[in-house]
Amino acid sequence: MRDFDENNITAAVLDRFGATPNPRLKAIVSSLVQHLHDFVRDVELTFEEWEHAIAYLTRTGQKCTDKRQEFILLSDTLGVSMLVDAINHRMPAGATETTVLGPFHVAGAPELSDGADISAGLAGEKLLVEGRVAGTDGQPIAGAMVDVWQADDDGYYDVQRPELDAPALRARLRTGEDGRFHFWSIMPAPYPIPDDGPVGDMLAATARHPWRPAHVHFMIAAEGYETLVTHIFVEGSPYLDSDAVFGVKNSLIREFASEAASHAPDGTEMTSPWRKLSQDFGLKPARAV
Ligand code: BEZ
Ligand code: FE
Repeated sequence: MRDFDENNITAAVLDRFGATPNPRLKAIVSSLVQHLHDFVRDVELTFEEWEHAIAYLTRTGQKCTDKRQEFILLSDTLGVSMLVDAINHRMPAGATETTVLGPFHVAGAPELSDGADISAGLAGEKLLVEGRVAGTDGQPIAGAMVDVWQADDDGYYDVQRPELDAPALRARLRTGEDGRFHFWSIMPAPYPIPDDGPVGDMLAATARHPWRPAHVHFMIAAEGYETLVTHIFVEGSPYLDSDAVFGVKNSLIREFASEAASHAPDGTEMTSPWRKLSQDFGLKPARAV
């Protein structure tokens, strides 16, 4: 067939993919072509706009390194990451809700003992985080790996501070027999996502801000359960209703309680006011294979 026009080209392209042997690939590629063509017809894309889009995606790829993934950031800011998350994590009662992983997780963070201080001496308001990890049946999970990471008092992760020569505000801790863990840290601040690249250009061109509300990240893994990737957001933080990556869920917003100078529950003597987050986590049983 020849002489394709705006009315018959979609059917011709779909037909060309007709012999795709993998049925899932065939469904995905066919839907993609259909939606892409409909989109181009819908907005009557100009040639200059098409060239602009190609240049934009090229710059997005060129911005990627082994430390920066601009395409995931683009997916995050377009709401696609949270949409994929929502479709793939329909949670049963008792399971903690999930949210985006983000670019600042580092595999193999230092494994510290329960009660450790993960702040590596960085200044900020002291924060005690205590929690319990359980299955959806409420039974404690012993030996779960609790991987935590967060921004500092100025809104930077350690990987954004080249002057630091060791990990800070990130660690892995194991739950005890009762499923409990606790650690000391400092209060995280809100921060802008990396906006010095094509994603930042898109946010600026569309009058959007790059900020995320203050939060602490958790990735919790235990044998026999789906790994939980989530954050806990600081109640009252700015940007809870306008998170740049659409990651906020009501069930993940918690009071980081203000405590007067006193003895903390683990016996630590606090000579100035401090904050406390108490958060339990529910893990979803892994699907049988
Ligand atoms: C984060 O919370 O670390 C994050 C998530 C998505 C995009 C940028 C940062
Ligand atoms: Fe974060």
